Amino acid sequence: MLTLKSPAKINLFLKIVGKRPDGFHELASLFQAISLTDTIHYSLHDSDQLTCNDPGIPLDGSNLILKAADLFRRKTGLKFGLKAHLEKNIPYQSGLGGGSGNAATTLWALNKLLNYNATVKQLTEWSGDIGSDISFFFSQGTAYCTGRGEIVQSLPPLPSQTMWIVKPPLGLSTPAVYKQVNLQNLQKRDPEKCLANFFLGQSEYFNDLEIPAFAVMPELVKLKNHLLEIGFQNVVLTGSGSGFYCFGDANPRDIPDVSCHQVTYLNRQPDNWY
Ligand code: C5P
Repeated sequence: MLTLKSPAKINLFLKIVGKRPDGFHELASLFQAISLTDTIHYSLHDSDQLTCNDPGIPLDGSNLILKAADLFRRKTGLKFGLKAHLEKNIPYQSGLGGGSGNAATTLWALNKLLNYNATVKQLTEWSGDIGSDISFFFSQGTAYCTGRGEIVQSLPPLPSQTMWIVKPPLGLSTPAVYKQVNLQNLQKRDPEKCLANFFLGQSEYFNDLEIPAFAVMPELVKLKNHLLEIGFQNVVLTGSGSGFYCFGDANPRDIPDVSCHQVTYLNRQPDNWY
């Protein structure tokens, strides 16, 4: 039996660079893992078996834990079944990459349980086959991601900050948000410069998916404004939403009907998972 934490991520900035012929969007984004985590218990078994404490999570082949097990079988040629129990804590459809983190954690777990010794580079490359955000988790928790998000440049840890994750009750569908992107309406920014500035302490937090997400769920504008009014300095949508990360000296706990988590950045050591 192996028990691992499966972290969430935020996008400290997310720039949409263009639209590709395959329908995906070309991104340039600074990703950071955070201390909001699921826990997953793994063991080898004669067939795949997934359980979860949260009845809202699909347990069929659409779950990224089972997709990751299939991917590992395909890439390695090994035959095995995986028993996994997921303790879900990261809100889903929130842009926090919870499902993607679960997939990355599963690939890491299988590599250990089966003593396969795939390299981090292999795991990173393989994971791009089943989703855009999974590869990031094979960095050590801070990375600049380009392409669909699956091309990962690992970076040294940034000074950690305490922040709040705030999510309204309804989630957002990633494809629905991307459908609203209008390339003409995006602010012109050079992502390489944004990245360099971050490491000079001149952070500019932004997300080009905010306006598209607001088009799908207009009530998000009200929530963002409210979070700014109660004293947060920066309130930015993470991924395709509907979660926000908030920096500053305020407390969102009194806002009705939202889930709130106080978190910090999370980085891992090269040989250990998060
Ligand atoms: O790769 P992932 O499964 O996360 O993508 C979900 C959907 O989000 C895609 O089918 C696509 O519609 C959209 N997407 C995109 N550009 C990206 C990542 C995702 O358009 N870079």
